[in-house]
Amino acid sequence: MATVTAPRKAATPQIRQSQLFIGGQWTPARSGNTFDTINPATEEVIAAVAEADAADVELAVLAARKAFDEGPWPRMNARERGRIMMRLADLIEAEIDELAALESLDNGKPVSDARLGDIPLAIEVIRYYAGWADKIQGATIPINGNYFCYTRKEPVGVAGQIIPWNFPILMVAWKWGPALAAGCTIVMKPAEQTPLTALRLARLAQEAGVPDGVINVVPGFGPTAGAAIVKHPGIDKVAFTGSGETAQVIMRQAADQLKRLTFELGGKSPNIVFADADMDAAAAGAHVGIYLNQGQCCCAGSRLFVEDAIHGEFVERVVAESKSRRVGDPFDPATQQGPQVDKAQFDKIMGYIAVGQKEGATLAAGGGRVGDKGFFIEPTVFTNVKDEMAIAREEIFGPVLSVLKFSDMDELIRRANATNFGLAAAVWTRDISRAHEAAKRLRAGTVWVNCYDVFDAAAPFGGFKQSGFGRELGEKGLEPYLEHKTVTVSLS
Ligand code: NAI
Ligand code: MG
Repeated sequence: MATVTAPRKAATPQIRQSQLFIGGQWTPARSGNTFDTINPATEEVIAAVAEADAADVELAVLAARKAFDEGPWPRMNARERGRIMMRLADLIEAEIDELAALESLDNGKPVSDARLGDIPLAIEVIRYYAGWADKIQGATIPINGNYFCYTRKEPVGVAGQIIPWNFPILMVAWKWGPALAAGCTIVMKPAEQTPLTALRLARLAQEAGVPDGVINVVPGFGPTAGAAIVKHPGIDKVAFTGSGETAQVIMRQAADQLKRLTFELGGKSPNIVFADADMDAAAAGAHVGIYLNQGQCCCAGSRLFVEDAIHGEFVERVVAESKSRRVGDPFDPATQQGPQVDKAQFDKIMGYIAVGQKEGATLAAGGGRVGDKGFFIEPTVFTNVKDEMAIAREEIFGPVLSVLKFSDMDELIRRANATNFGLAAAVWTRDISRAHEAAKRLRAGTVWVNCYDVFDAAAPFGGFKQSGFGRELGEKGLEPYLEHKTVTVSLS
């Protein structure tokens, strides 16, 4: 059985920001409305947060527009932009413990995950893009005739950024980093489940010297605040991370204005273990692949393909490790798995666990709720999963692993690619030719070989097929925030 660790009193962070951040000012919503953000470990209200709607988005877009059209940010020396971003990274680092606690409180993730994983990577991403600020350069092009032709890369303008709740701080960094380096200004809507850390980061950005209006943060709901960002003519580009369903709505709504869009969406990523793999490493990789962040990862390795020769032995290990995973109080440093983010996600996942059993898969571990307060779910493993089952095709976004058996490479590749998603994949083998062959043939934006969930600020990430378009991180991640201008000068 998954064990519930005893709740321990840990330092609860202070909630210092709960209003909208527009044009450098903290302000209540025009409507005066607020919404509650909940601690998913206790189901208790943490804070009432100002609830933005279209009227507030209007003000935020005006502020961002003004900061872009007239303000210093896109006009200052690029190196100075980089210095301000470095200061922001330093301030985040200085507050890392408090930020980790705030993130854990709002999202439910183990505080140690936020402290050792999410936030250090967020800091890296901001520093990495700070380094890009003065290295965004065009080309000179030898065109026909007596002309001097060159290109300039210019900021795309005001970026609308809509982010989910699974990695709140990290998503802020992934979105702000390239936008700020490029010289864009920002209207960001954090997820309604987890608005607190984005507000805190806005405060730190101001303290770092980001001019007023460059970053605006408007917590609120998708169909109101989110849709208002998407539809506003003052927004030049929308960057969205979340569900494919919402991306479709956004794409339709943005069509009128042919708005630039980048999407980072879901997945059903294959995690593939060949018989010659290092079993210890592969078992650990299967575990991380599915359970990291309570399974709430777009790139979760939710389809575990195991070669038939080792299937029995390998599955036994995965099941045993799942059963020993420590589920409980996110503030306990020993906890490996906290609650799901909210009731809706909890219900969705429990629904899939019921569907998996009904479809005839074998429930080999977990399957139940943990405790009776908070949205905790046991690490769950289904074996004897068939490709056509819903639990093998649809994104569950929880700690639920589907194990599938395979016997040869061609069959494996066909089945692994038989999905509308294409975000990530992993291969575990000691045979380097096989590893590279699989890496070539898998239709996914990221392929990990003998590792899983390895992210770096410099390595682009994004999806094939319905997992999205555009890339985040690395040099590629800057592109969506830039326009390319060609200047042609007659020399005669
Ligand atoms: P969602 O896509 O509805 O929400 C993500 C963000 O979009 C939130 O900030 C939300 O307020 C906003 N949003 C919602 N409707 C909008 C609209 N009409 N216009 C503009 N913005 C809008 O995802 P949700 O409902 O939180 O989760 C549903 C499923 O989506 C999850 O179970 C999971 O399968 C998937 N998901 C994938 C994520 C990823 O990292 N790729 C992250 C979160 C969810
Ligand atoms: Mg939704």
